[in-house]
Amino acid sequence: MSVRLIDIRKEFPDPEREGGIMNAVLGMNLEIKDGEFLTLLGPSGCGKTTTLRMIAGFESPTEGEIWIGGEKVNDVPPNKRDTTMVFQSYAIFPHMSVAQNVGFGLELKGRPKAEIASEVDKVMRVMGIAELGRRRPDQLSGGQQQRVALARAVVNKPRVLLFDEPLSNLDAKLRETMRVEIRRIQQTFGITSVYVTHDQAEAMTVSDRIVVMEKGRVMQVGTPFEVYSRPNCRFVADFIGKVNLFPVRIAAVADGPEGVAGTVRDSSGRLLPVGSFGAGIGVGDEAFLTIRPESLKLGAGLPGEVGLGESVELGTGKVTKAVYLGSLVEYEIDSGGDKPIQAVSYDPIDSRFYKVGERVSFSYAARAAHVLRKD
Ligand SMILES: Nc1ncnc2c1ncn2[C@@H]1O[C@H](COP(=O)(O)OP(=O)(O)OP(=O)(O)O)[C@@H](O)[C@H]1O
Ligand SMILES: [Mg+2]
Repeated sequence: MSVRLIDIRKEFPDPEREGGIMNAVLGMNLEIKDGEFLTLLGPSGCGKTTTLRMIAGFESPTEGEIWIGGEKVNDVPPNKRDTTMVFQSYAIFPHMSVAQNVGFGLELKGRPKAEIASEVDKVMRVMGIAELGRRRPDQLSGGQQQRVALARAVVNKPRVLLFDEPLSNLDAKLRETMRVEIRRIQQTFGITSVYVTHDQAEAMTVSDRIVVMEKGRVMQVGTPFEVYSRPNCRFVADFIGKVNLFPVRIAAVADGPEGVAGTVRDSSGRLLPVGSFGAGIGVGDEAFLTIRPESLKLGAGLPGEVGLGESVELGTGKVTKAVYLGSLVEYEIDSGGDKPIQAVSYDPIDSRFYKVGERVSFSYAARAAHVLRKD
């Protein structure tokens, strides 16, 4: 079922100012397609939970319309919206068995016993908890409890599933397993889902599209690739992972060889090829060349050494930090700018390991360079 938010604003009394108001959500327009998995991502307090609660009907927007399918639901109470919310505290009933927990919603709807048993059995099988039906919740691990909560949500086949940081109580390893699981379940049942998290990796794993929010506003809506590799503003680029920013001026916007969208001039006047431009950028504009740490290639600091193939040499500097993490090494390089350059080298056993104090050069492939408006 599709969900539409039209010009939504939600105000609360401002706790800081007597009689004042603050907008928790402002000017939000969103269309969530039928069967889509959409994630609201953003820092604490940006309005994610408020948005979710408005879709569920636990809060009403101060202004704007909410549509589920062909129905405007502003005045429809939560229990008539056919949405189900999954929370971080799973709220499964401690005195009921797993199977009873999963079947609870169907029982409330007065479904025949045989139908409940077969639906519960089917969902538990998909969830990988079929053999746990007779256990009580206190006899389950955290991950198993989360699966029960999910099973209980999907067994009702709601029109929309709403998730508010459902994995934040789990340890890192389990979170990774469960986010793949959540995606699989959502795809199996094809239920339109809105998911809230402030964990960017989680958002990238589960989503068809991600909505990046800041201070109640939508900053960008896009696929995981778009928000990570083609951010439209500095906030999005910074929030989703790390990024190196180099001040530049746009020299040419044109169709070059594959993966080259134009050229920019750096502060020393050198012409550099870039792979893509954000919206609203024209020749002569001041802008930022952005390159993710994993897209910077390091070399031993001898001119020409890394300028091989399609790499464009960008500069040199001194390694100030080298953190070995097994599968990768994280570097910081001082090249005279206000901030250190960040670089990541994967599979370190197969490449050179640079030490603190060593001089390195760094280069990039044009297609990995994205240009952002300076705002
Ligand atoms: N009932 C309320 N009364 C007053 N202010 C509120 C209320 N609920 C939320 N807010 C404020 O609205 C803003 C958005 O809150 P919201 O809970 O939607 O944030 P969030 O993005 O879910 O954050 P988090 O990641 O910390 O859960 C915050 O500034 C919050 O303090
Ligand atoms: Mg929240």
